[in-house]
Amino acid sequence: MPEFPAYRPRRLRRTEALRALVRETRLSPSQLVLPLFARPGQGVRQPVESMPGVHQTSVDELVKDARAAADAGVGGVLLFGIPEHKDEQGTSAWDDSGPVQRAVRALKNDVPQLVVITDVCMCEYTSHGHCGVLVNGDVDNDATLELLSREALSHARAGADIVAPSDMMDGRVGAIRSALDGAGFTNTAIMSYSAKFAGAFYGPFRDAAESTPQSGDRRGYQMDAANAEEALRETWLDIEEGADIVMVKPAGPYLDVIARVKAETGYPLAAYQVSGEFAMIQAAAERGWIDRERVMMESLLGIRRAGADVIITYFAAEAARLLR
Ligand code: PBG
Repeated sequence: MPEFPAYRPRRLRRTEALRALVRETRLSPSQLVLPLFARPGQGVRQPVESMPGVHQTSVDELVKDARAAADAGVGGVLLFGIPEHKDEQGTSAWDDSGPVQRAVRALKNDVPQLVVITDVCMCEYTSHGHCGVLVNGDVDNDATLELLSREALSHARAGADIVAPSDMMDGRVGAIRSALDGAGFTNTAIMSYSAKFAGAFYGPFRDAAESTPQSGDRRGYQMDAANAEEALRETWLDIEEGADIVMVKPAGPYLDVIARVKAETGYPLAAYQVSGEFAMIQAAAERGWIDRERVMMESLLGIRRAGADVIITYFAAEAARLLR
């Protein structure tokens, strides 16, 4: 390494043109994925209080938001559903005319350039709000696999490009892959929430998806926030079971995990900037304490620099517009 005064790093920081010339990391709209919340009805647009700018919408309104995002260059959308009715088993999850399934069909028809990804989980559909079936108060792993497979198949039948299991049951990627293949959906990809950490950052989302557990929490199935080695084991397991894209979630507080998973697996990697990360930025900006646009872009750039190929973020459409 040359030393000062021969080497002066500031020389290449002097103008924006020089900085742009040697910039190491770039964000592109096509790498961004926008989460959307589908509910029954027509002309429905209900704000989510803890996530300013985010709405639960009926399918007709959802298509408008997706089209606006696609026009800004956003690469894909990730769909969550708020069903008409919930029960112990979460049977609405595989209703072929549920809000997610109808949204997939509408998007494939009206906005074909978007990649359509569906979240596969039971928590939005069960009356108790847990991510699987309860047996004696505990989420039963193996019994849940069958239900997740039905849900994923229903999304594939609707035309989803990618199904994204977020439940954290052991063996679910393998179960879903064989269910899809068995039904001829060999080209439907799986984006697995591989290293999904339990914690407090999902709070606002649970308002948006109406999926707060009625008792207990998710620490019995989502990962302990302290564990990076385990995140790698989880990710390798999903890869061996057939995941096409792996995921780390949340993103901002887990940049070390993103960097390690990318370096050690080399797999296409998604990172989810979750509702709590989004809400903190929005709230501080509303108070005038931070510059919203700059913090938003810096938070996304950090996730990209850590190694994420795909970033799932509630800022997707807005960030894409700024990047054009
Ligand atoms: C479903 C699911 C959750 C999120 C994505 N899929 C909530 C949870 O696990 O409680 C969180 C997304 C966010 O906070 O933005 N299991």
